[in-house]
Amino acid sequence: MRLLVTGGAGYLGSEVCRQAVDAGHDVVATELRTPAPFGRALTVDLREPFELDDVDVVVHTAYVQADPDMIVRSTRNVAAAAESAGARLIHLSTDLVFDGEHAPYSEEDDPAPVSAYGQAKLEAERFVHGLVVRTSLLYGKPGPQEALAARDDVVFHTDEIRCPTHVSDLASALLELAALDLTGVLHVAAPEAVSRLEFARLLGAREPRGVATPPGRARNVALDSSRAARLLRTKLRGIREIKR
Ligand SMILES: NC(=O)c1ccc[n+]([C@@H]2O[C@H](COP(=O)([O-])OP(=O)(O)OC[C@H]3O[C@@H](n4cnc5c(N)ncnc54)[C@H](OP(=O)(O)O)[C@@H]3O)[C@@H](O)[C@H]2O)c1
Repeated sequence: MRLLVTGGAGYLGSEVCRQAVDAGHDVVATELRTPAPFGRALTVDLREPFELDDVDVVVHTAYVQADPDMIVRSTRNVAAAAESAGARLIHLSTDLVFDGEHAPYSEEDDPAPVSAYGQAKLEAERFVHGLVVRTSLLYGKPGPQEALAARDDVVFHTDEIRCPTHVSDLASALLELAALDLTGVLHVAAPEAVSRLEFARLLGAREPRGVATPPGRARNVALDSSRAARLLRTKLRGIREIKR
């Protein structure tokens, strides 16, 4: 399979590229500032329109959480490039498209984001003719969540509920999905829902301090990923299963 992964140097993108190269796929990894460690690198600023050829599937992971404009523009450009190249698109989205008041959320539930990030990711989803994959907090190799858990100057929300998902499990699921002709929305997260405080503990935080989620932030955005669990051979493992 000829695969193009945007954000090839990112936490998820680099793992998708690593597994795809290992599996013998022809992999192009887009990069901007940070060199992509796996696959053939292609430097592109996704905020500008670009063209693609010789690609079967595009996996769009690139984003900047604090930059809604980048999220929307890059997805519009990636979707247009994939469509004119005749490539299928898998777009990464988030549990934060939901308001956190009606969990667990299935693919049929109406998104209602409460943050600028969630709003931008939802807007971006609307450009996608292929498959939108919504996931939750990613961990599993040294990264932002592991770094947060190691700090002693942060507090963790006691009632913010997420479905932490091992980055290698998600990458493997994405490669499985790349070979399927699926469109629409699919929730792909681990089945276990835990609080941010419990998540920090499970990542090794010694005596993490907890506080209630402040107003204006989604609380329980647990995803119902049972459809993906039925569809995929890859098992999305719960964090307690991994960390016990
Ligand atoms: N991480 C999570 O916990 C989590 C949870 C739910 C959903 N997601 C979704 O999963 C996806 C991947 O997240 P991640 O944490 O793996 O991301 P990440 O590590 O922050 O990587 C983002 C990548 O995007 C690239 N990028 C940023 N601006 C760009 C631009 N203008 N043009 C081209 N590339 C650009 C970055 O390149 P440079 O480093 O060179 O700037 C980086 O490689 C995102 O779509 C996110 O919404 C993530």
